Amino acid sequence: MKGIIVTGSSGLIGSEVVAFFHREGYFVHGIDSNQRAVFFGPQGDTRWSQQRLVNTFRNFEHHELDIRDRGGVLALVARIMPAVIIHTAAQPSHDRAAAIPFDDFDTNAVGTLNLLEAARRSCPESPFIHMSTNKVYGDRPNTIALRELETRWDYDDPAYANGIPETFSIDQSKHSLFGASKVASDIMVQEYGRYFNMPTCCLRGGCLTGPNHSGVELHGFLSYLVKCNLEGREYRIFGYKGKQVRDNIHSEDVARFIHAFALNPRIAEVYNLGGGKANSCSILEAFKLTEQFTNKAQVSTYVEENRIGDHICYYSDLTKMRQHYPGWDITKSLKQTIGEIVHSWQERLKR
Ligand SMILES: NC(=O)c1ccc[n+]([C@@H]2O[C@H](COP(=O)([O-])OP(=O)(O)OC[C@H]3O[C@@H](n4cnc5c(N)ncnc54)[C@H](O)[C@@H]3O)[C@@H](O)[C@H]2O)c1
Repeated sequence: MKGIIVTGSSGLIGSEVVAFFHREGYFVHGIDSNQRAVFFGPQGDTRWSQQRLVNTFRNFEHHELDIRDRGGVLALVARIMPAVIIHTAAQPSHDRAAAIPFDDFDTNAVGTLNLLEAARRSCPESPFIHMSTNKVYGDRPNTIALRELETRWDYDDPAYANGIPETFSIDQSKHSLFGASKVASDIMVQEYGRYFNMPTCCLRGGCLTGPNHSGVELHGFLSYLVKCNLEGREYRIFGYKGKQVRDNIHSEDVARFIHAFALNPRIAEVYNLGGGKANSCSILEAFKLTEQFTNKAQVSTYVEENRIGDHICYYSDLTKMRQHYPGWDITKSLKQTIGEIVHSWQERLKR
């Protein structure tokens, strides 16, 4: 049985990837130190998810390891010699990074380097798939001409009719410290591909979401929005009239793409991975969609000032992914995804 390593295994994407690869017949080694609870407090705790994995999957082993522990990472990868490494562990919040710059950079940039070097030394031929982010483009997408519609912003430039392609510049814009640490890891992952000829891939995520997210105000927009709705708690909109647009992709569709890449890897690839235009929505539209499932009006307040560097409108151009992996496509609509998130929170909030 082939063994693989998934970092951040208790998180949204990590846990979905564990389930997916387990179903495909792999032995999955998960690495997670529940650092999300350190970054975001008890609301971000992912132990419930870790327990679920341990209780559900026979061929799963949890490793309580911090990816900043260089010696520990080198030793574990050398012992397991994984057939695939899927790296989803991160400090994932744009806004949180400014308060914890060392933790942010050490986790996102240095932790990624630890894993890359461990892979080069022990299993250079194994696909290395890294979760990057659309924040590597900084706030440059905000320079594209926009038009204001009734409930959302949209691009007013035919060049971006399908969304943002991978050729978009990542340079000379405001990234947030989080975006900068993710740029460092993104470039390093590409470099290990080009320089050492390793099968690496960066997935520049839009809004990755799904029923297993521990959404908090600073990270996990749809999950947090649904939780607020169910609890009757106020959701704060930061600027752009609530018409800011994100493209949402279900974590299972993310896992399916990761699997497709692992089966047919390429060298130093980069993909923009989001829900695309069809699965995009503004915050105002997300309120309405959620209310359809819960029958509860969303309580919200409006804060004039937008989040620093926040995208006004962002959706990924999925053309390259579809061309390289024609067997892959989005399978879960936005409505279906929100339905699943609602159901998951209804169950979790009962506990
Ligand atoms: N969710 C999104 O909307 C989104 C969007 C774009 C990119 N991404 C990227 O996708 C990846 C996964 O995101 P997610 O939403 O699943 O995040 P998540 O916070 O749900 O999961 C990350 C997991 O990594 C663990 N972790 C963090 N630091 C660690 C460390 N130093 N050592 C060991 N474990 C550690 C956390 O405890 C958590 O369980 C991240 O790289 C993130 O930047 C996410």
